[in-house]
Amino acid sequence: MSIESQNVTDYPNTNTIFMVWRLVDDPKLKDVFQQLCALVMNLNNSVFNRFPDSRASCVMGIGYNAWNILELPTPLPKELVNFEEIKGEKHTAVSTPGDLHFHLRADDKSIIFDMAIEISKLLTPVAEGILEINGFKYWDDRSILGFVDGTENPHNEDRDFFAKIGDEDLQYKGGSYLFTQKYLHNMNAWRSLSTGDQEKVIGRSKENDIEMSDNLKPSNSHIALANIGDDLKIVRDNMPFGSPSTGEFGTYFISYANSFSTTKKMLTNMFVGDPVGNYDRILDFSTAVTGTLFFVPTRNMLDDFSG
Ligand code: HEM
Repeated sequence: MSIESQNVTDYPNTNTIFMVWRLVDDPKLKDVFQQLCALVMNLNNSVFNRFPDSRASCVMGIGYNAWNILELPTPLPKELVNFEEIKGEKHTAVSTPGDLHFHLRADDKSIIFDMAIEISKLLTPVAEGILEINGFKYWDDRSILGFVDGTENPHNEDRDFFAKIGDEDLQYKGGSYLFTQKYLHNMNAWRSLSTGDQEKVIGRSKENDIEMSDNLKPSNSHIALANIGDDLKIVRDNMPFGSPSTGEFGTYFISYANSFSTTKKMLTNMFVGDPVGNYDRILDFSTAVTGTLFFVPTRNMLDDFSG
């Protein structure tokens, strides 16, 4: 039987809901999890049939603790661990709990809103919702900072290669390592920079999204530190979110990768710096308030788990 991955390589859509849940100790837990795996597959099949043009999907990731509590197969996916914080001199990539992660995407918010309701109805007796973010497409895929986000992402077959586990872990081939961080932006500090200074933080031009030449790009710019080579890439699906009346603005960073070590290397470059101390200037305007690693099983695995 062929291996079918979840929709980890889909492109960001107009609307996204991210949800993180923490499992509670309950005798119904394993039964509910079985039903949940069936529900995730049903939600995808249903939207594909009802709204074929909506590019709607629901991807579920499972954290290390949950994998153990639910007694899912052993050995575990090779790089599935509890994310350990990465501490630099000035900024820290914090580690926060999370058992199940849902990444819901559609052009029409109604579709993902109802998906989130179905998932929540099923999970509420055995889990607690600890994070929900409503992300949206901001202009031409800009982050709240005003810069286009996602340009250097892999495309076509590279997207599959970099997002999905290959022969290196045959038991989990087609699965993916999902890493997420909720960032809050200090917009007053950001807006106090000139456009030229903001461009030096990112390493690209703001209006037209052009990469700076190597002799102009600062070594502490975001793209100088996040780019760790053509062989080490991840698929990013960041979404902006914000609430103008409360002043909370942010980026939900989300990446799918064939290995967590690639994402970790990028985080180390950003937070610790390369060389040490030369940390990513974007962090002076963006604080990571969560950080959690999940594993995204294939659809075949979800089918097995659903009993
Ligand atoms: C590039 C924004 C966090 C990895 C970019 C770009 C922007 C951006 C605007 C340039 C356009 C593009 O190629 O996508 C942000 C924001 C973040 C964030 C607002 C959170 C505050 C992260 C994190 C990682 C990361 C945590 C890795 C763990 C990358 C990579 C690139 C990139 C690999 C492409 C570099 C290149 O090859 O040019 N990001 N990013 N980003 N970012 Fe981020």
